[in-house]
Amino acid sequence: MRRNHLGSGKSRNRAMTALVAWVAASAMTAPIATAHADEAQPFRLCADPTNLPFSSDGASQPGFYVEIGQALAQALGQPIAYDWYKSYFGKRTVRVTLLGKQCDAMIGLPRSEDFMGPAVIFSNTFAKEGYALVAAKGQAIGGVEGLKGRRVAVQFASTPQNLLASRDDIQKVTVLSPEEGMQALDQGKADVAFIWGPVAGWLNKTTYRDRYQIELTEGEGLSWDAAIGFAKTSTELRDRVDAILPQLQKTIADLAVKYGLPTGQPVRFGAQAVPAGVTTGTGTGARVTEIANVVATETKGEAAAPSAEAVGTGKEIFNGTCAHCHGPDAIQSEKKIDLRLLRHRYGDEMREKYWTTVHEGRPAKGMPAWKEVFTDDQFDNIYSFLLTVQSESND
Ligand code: HEC
Repeated sequence: MRRNHLGSGKSRNRAMTALVAWVAASAMTAPIATAHADEAQPFRLCADPTNLPFSSDGASQPGFYVEIGQALAQALGQPIAYDWYKSYFGKRTVRVTLLGKQCDAMIGLPRSEDFMGPAVIFSNTFAKEGYALVAAKGQAIGGVEGLKGRRVAVQFASTPQNLLASRDDIQKVTVLSPEEGMQALDQGKADVAFIWGPVAGWLNKTTYRDRYQIELTEGEGLSWDAAIGFAKTSTELRDRVDAILPQLQKTIADLAVKYGLPTGQPVRFGAQAVPAGVTTGTGTGARVTEIANVVATETKGEAAAPSAEAVGTGKEIFNGTCAHCHGPDAIQSEKKIDLRLLRHRYGDEMREKYWTTVHEGRPAKGMPAWKEVFTDDQFDNIYSFLLTVQSESND
């Protein structure tokens, strides 16, 4: 999965170009330092090569985070180097790359001790990110009451879906990705899309010719502060970055506009808008953890990674009901019913396949339908447990 960018010829050229640009820049501003240019350690950035608007290994459109990284490296007086890693799960990626010492910094982590603290430390906040309300221009929404009587596209298993679940006066149109949410708007199937803001903004810019207005939202599980993450041993680098961030504020604001990220005053969704018992989280910690994983996975239409409590509950149900066919703890030598291979088998469609199969079953093949037996929350918990046991093979 991991692709070291400096490995391929094309990327080496790019690294060289960056290095040359840096030498040229420092020659103008700090002639004395140039003598030691080749001694400067690169500022190594971990990023996903296919995650626009945030990051990309394409030189023409590197993405919001990568360009912030470039500006930081320049201000630090270091050349930049990239460690590309295609992320599926936020925490796993951070563990392998940042904590595996393959890079010095990861841009866009949620600034929260609950996110892998104390192993990961954070810079100050550089942006706010979250879900957004997308609608035709000139239709200010201004909060949950503004959604009354409208058809609202919400992504399956997302915070907005939970938030609106008990509102009978708001018609929900369930979609599986932000892309589908934008299509629902475009095709007139929804009046508003309540979806992951950065992707909405990016699509609005690249696909829909800026036709929609996008309002950022804030509230529990809806938005978070994005920061730069470092390994806990990098306090010195973190402090230097914090000292530089204020002078990059304008650059960062310009980049947000360039990549279509929703800006401006967020629409507040108060706590009272969250119907009791509908949220999937189990306390603030769990919400932050879920959000943290949304950061890395939402753009790919993946659901949030699970909380420990969800995993525990799911495992219990699994071992009580599913294990006698699928094996205790899902350990099963017969490939066809080895649920540790779901991701391997279905990739991005894993969740969808799981969902249909557990609801409808495959009666002809001996897999019962469970939709009368378990609630969707329980299916979510079982899924959370299954996520923790995925593997590439069952040998
Ligand atoms: C009576 C035996 C039995 C029980 C109990 C059972 N399953 Fe299954 N399950 C099967 C069989 C057999 C298949 C394979 C069907 C096929 O080959 O298409 C299957 C397939 C699946 C699949 C799809 C696997 C794939 O690769 O396509 C999922 C997901 C699944 N089961 C989840 C569960 C969950 C969750 C439970 C518990 C709530 C459960 N099953 C309980 C027999 C069972």
